[in-house]
Amino acid sequence: MVRKAALALFVLTLPLSGLPARADGGRAPARDVVGGDLAGNGRFPWAVRLSMGCGGALTAPRVVLTAGHCVGPSGPNDRITVTAGATDLKSRTAITVKSVEVYRSPDFVTETAGDDWAVVRLERDLALPTLPITSENVDKGEFTVMGWGQTRETSLLQERRLHYATVPTIPDDECAAAYRKAGVELVQDESICAGRHGVDTCQGDSGGPMVARDNTGRWTQIGIVSWGLGCARDGYFGVYTQIAKFRTEIAEATHRLS
Ligand code: ARG
Repeated sequence: MVRKAALALFVLTLPLSGLPARADGGRAPARDVVGGDLAGNGRFPWAVRLSMGCGGALTAPRVVLTAGHCVGPSGPNDRITVTAGATDLKSRTAITVKSVEVYRSPDFVTETAGDDWAVVRLERDLALPTLPITSENVDKGEFTVMGWGQTRETSLLQERRLHYATVPTIPDDECAAAYRKAGVELVQDESICAGRHGVDTCQGDSGGPMVARDNTGRWTQIGIVSWGLGCARDGYFGVYTQIAKFRTEIAEATHRLS
């Protein structure tokens, strides 16, 4: 996950998709590496890693919530391996379990078009804490984001250990104006933009949770890592699926797959 991106040249020519942003010849030197922090074991016990290179969170003992663009269409699916129960993927306490079924938002088309969520049914229950989805319509504040993805835009490496960071939200209109210049129309009412100078999620963090503590101090999920132009570029922010907009659908899907 995240951190410091290389200086963005060629902004308009870089890929906007979840593909690793190969800086098409524009490999400017990285500025100082700021970053999130390493999460110690047990820190975010519901955070999981998916084998296609995404993150996710356990919304129920055998259901993982992730991004729609991380998975294929709805239906039986035994091709995903989920690593859970450890922030260090190579730790002896890490559990791996297979998927049996995927349910992707029926409205999902592509990550920048909204509806970027999916749930994955696992072959068995995991005895781990689950992360409830928010019951409030929060879309502003400081949120915690996490993942095993790249720690800079130009690194093609994934991390063995979970990283996390705290990022403030950015007003939708500001975020949309930036992306409009890059030719992408932000789906404002289904997205939360967040990030600050040098701190962002990055390739490989997709599907992972954006969380906040509720008024009882319990972590709840507010968003899902979805997309961004490069990583941690000044003026461009990470875009997260706004869970509150899909609360009923996600809760129903979780229930069905439990
Ligand atoms: N789509 C990316 C993935 O598959 C996530 C990108 C998040 N980018 C960002 N700048 N916040 O991992």
